[in-house]
Amino acid sequence: MPESAVVKPSLAAGPEIVAIPGPTVVPARVLSAMHRAMPDIYDGELLAVTDEVFDTLPGLAGTSSRGFVTISNGHGAWEMALTNTLSRGDRVLVLDCGRFGAVWAEMASFDGLDVEMLEAAPGRANDPARLEERLSLDPSHDIKAVLMVHADTASSARNDVPAFRRAIDATGHPALLMVDCIATMGCERFLMDEWGVDLALAASQKGLMTPPGLGFVWPGPRALAAHATADLRTRYWDWTYRTEQGPHYLRYCGTPPVAHLFGIREALRMIEEEGLEARWARHRVLADAVRAAVEAWSAPGGLSLNVIEASERSNSVTTIRTGSVDAVELSRICKDEMGVTLGVGVGDVAGASFRIGHMGHVNAPMVLGVLGSVEAALSAMDAPIGGSGVAAAASSLAGALAGDG
Ligand SMILES: Cc1ncc(COP(=O)(O)O)c(C=O)c1O
Repeated sequence: MPESAVVKPSLAAGPEIVAIPGPTVVPARVLSAMHRAMPDIYDGELLAVTDEVFDTLPGLAGTSSRGFVTISNGHGAWEMALTNTLSRGDRVLVLDCGRFGAVWAEMASFDGLDVEMLEAAPGRANDPARLEERLSLDPSHDIKAVLMVHADTASSARNDVPAFRRAIDATGHPALLMVDCIATMGCERFLMDEWGVDLALAASQKGLMTPPGLGFVWPGPRALAAHATADLRTRYWDWTYRTEQGPHYLRYCGTPPVAHLFGIREALRMIEEEGLEARWARHRVLADAVRAAVEAWSAPGGLSLNVIEASERSNSVTTIRTGSVDAVELSRICKDEMGVTLGVGVGDVAGASFRIGHMGHVNAPMVLGVLGSVEAALSAMDAPIGGSGVAAAASSLAGALAGDG
């Protein structure tokens, strides 16, 4: 009997591909920059690193406002945003189109705010007309802030942020517009000042290609004005304390996150070298390839894109419904047998979906490798598929290569 008939090879040997929507692949350049002895935190190189990071942050978010850096995950950035601008009992209107708006809302409620939700229809982004309608019913301006995500990492729906600004303006309502860009910063076009966003926030572990542990909050002039009277302020998150003249480490309210600062500086340099426009275009082209694959696979009882409207699909992450196909088994085969870790489905589509993260340090062969592995797993499971997703993705990429994309 030939050896190949009795030995089942592992196709997972070799580099692991983690295709979850954050934490994402950290470039070797960033890892190397972090791998260093601890410097003096009062003097020398670290101060220059901090200055470079803080000088670069406004351009990243498309704002002339300074950014704040939290030593935290995205939840910390959420809390910094809320506690610096709002007072106990203030009403906030939270838009949810998947999961993360709702989780931010839970935090707001816990922090003492009066939370009202506006949910999107399943498979859709939020509707600006509903926001306009709700604000027009608030002539006394009880609603102090509108909280929303740019893209929801659970559903992969992306909101048209400028449309929400227009909706607010149409009612003349003064509520602050706060946007969570955790899934999109550095991946999707975001122009804080041009779009009239009052506060934006992000985190290090997705498009910014750095391990989890840093949050970023950019308050615009109206958010800074609200800060003057906010009573949820606490010393640790407080913007005033972090901008007072004093030792440089006050920007972090204590010892700086040294290794992360060296890492994010390198990541920000990489972003600058590539250029934001080029990055946004890369993410769109790669997302188009993923979407082309899913559409080619689509078959009755099989896979489909979770987000219904093409214009509402994020370029950072794609949520794929699995119909009658066993999502758990599909992910298991990809991971255990081919070394590709897919994102599990979360929120409303948990158990019946998976997610592919295509954000940050990702290129065409990585995306093709993930899609090829999914296609092999689908075939091995004898799942219903309409056609080759890999061929469709390659053809979509070819269009971009030829300049059609
Ligand atoms: C859109 C969005 N907002 C907020 C969060 C929460 O961030 P963290 O888990 O870093 O606290 C996430 C996490 O995935 C997210 O995707």
